[in-house]
Amino acid sequence: MSHPVAIQFQSPQIDALASQTGRIALLVDAAKPATPAAKRLDKAMRGGLARALASEAFTRLKPGESLDLAFPAGLAAEALHLIHLPKKASVTEARKAGAAIGRALTPAATLVLAEAQTNAQAAELSFGLALRAYDFTPHKTAEKKALGPVTLAVTAPEAVAALASPLAAVAEGVFFTRDLVNEPANILTTHDFAARLAAMQELGLDVEILEEDQLTKLGMGALLGVGQGSESPSKVVVMQWHGGKKGDAPFALVGKGVVFDSGGISIKPAGGMEEMTMDMGGAAVVAGVMRSLALRGAKANVVGLVGLVENMPDGRAQRPGDVVKSMKGDTIEVINTDAEGRLVLADVLWYAQDRFKPCGVINLATLTGAIIIALGHEHTGVFSNDDALAGAFLKAAAAEGEGAWRMPMGQAYDDKLKSRIADMMNVGGRDGGAITAAQFIKRFIKDGMPWVHLDIAGTALLKSDSTLAPKGATGWGVMALNRLIRDQYESK
Ligand code: BES
Ligand code: MN
Ligand code: ZN
Repeated sequence: MSHPVAIQFQSPQIDALASQTGRIALLVDAAKPATPAAKRLDKAMRGGLARALASEAFTRLKPGESLDLAFPAGLAAEALHLIHLPKKASVTEARKAGAAIGRALTPAATLVLAEAQTNAQAAELSFGLALRAYDFTPHKTAEKKALGPVTLAVTAPEAVAALASPLAAVAEGVFFTRDLVNEPANILTTHDFAARLAAMQELGLDVEILEEDQLTKLGMGALLGVGQGSESPSKVVVMQWHGGKKGDAPFALVGKGVVFDSGGISIKPAGGMEEMTMDMGGAAVVAGVMRSLALRGAKANVVGLVGLVENMPDGRAQRPGDVVKSMKGDTIEVINTDAEGRLVLADVLWYAQDRFKPCGVINLATLTGAIIIALGHEHTGVFSNDDALAGAFLKAAAAEGEGAWRMPMGQAYDDKLKSRIADMMNVGGRDGGAITAAQFIKRFIKDGMPWVHLDIAGTALLKSDSTLAPKGATGWGVMALNRLIRDQYESK
């Protein structure tokens, strides 16, 4: 697993600044740049700080951006990061400022001076710093240097630490999600995935693993068909967090956990197939959210369910044309074995509603290439039967800076799923492929159940660095879902 950077909070030690080794980051509010620390640094730098702050390079910076000075004359530090962060900067701008530091971290200790900013901003900054300092290194054999500790110098260290603590719980959840998504499929088998979830019992979560014989008894023919060509047995893992009132219906999160998607007999082309180690991204977000809720002691009842399968070609694998029976009882003609995620979700969603009678359900899945054609990598596709729940989710995602865009649904799309010999087909053609996939899933949502489907195929993993993550797994959705649960289900 990756090792998050250690962050401590402390009052500024102004007189020691010139002899401070390692790296220094100074947060500058252009409206109030002359803080005690800035004055002390400028004196040691013989006016060099004032010149840098007056430079065009600095004045051009957007909130959260940094001007980096190497070996600043007059200071013992090896680097000075000048970060533009106005007092009125937003949550996402404060996180971006932290990310500018996290991205530049080295083994040398770093002192961050956040004098002119608010306590809340300093806490958000520490969150952004931690998220961007993440690195996935378990399979790098060359010596790994731990990142130096970070000291955040603030006027009210205890108040900032208190605000940062629930955010640190969310960061842990994001790291858990990213580690799962980054892990290759020979290591993260269905068995290994389930074991990592079972280990979360230590945090106070109830974790159950349903094995193939139980899934057979439950009638999960759609899910089991997907996994029948793999050496790794299919599993459903149920994680329950009881932080709310006893007897209150839980909120349900359901994730697609295809540990590798070769396409099955409808095999994918070789180019890029290695990316399909991330096809358990939905399940990883569900797991990361459950971890965050447990770590921060959320006052809500939430149940997380994931369907863990591997989609492989084999003599026993499911064929195109096979008809399977879902737990709901509906039959499905499997036209394309590569449209497997919806088959997994159909059974896990039905089981979640049947057993837990939740007050609402959100599912996440790296479901379709078509959503990437529609929205690129900037937004997750949001599909819903409930404007209130969809609106609350979109609001939470916007507040967290996680891109999300509502997509249409409708009968005409559903009609494309009609099968000649079964109740439905598992594909509805190329056109509107992300929408027909959503229509398929909707057939397994009970009448009146508030539901949101998040197609994260484009957002779970990125090929280039983003503001809060290095290239690779992003953990998209953990922050938004944590906020949704905090704002909608804990306040009541
Ligand atoms: N896991 C894929 C979708 C995907 C594609 C995720 C690219 C991440 C990046 C899914 O199981 C799949 O193969 N979908 C097919 C559906 C088609 C056969 C109807 C697709 O999108 O091509
Ligand atoms: Mn597939
Ligand atoms: Zn898939």
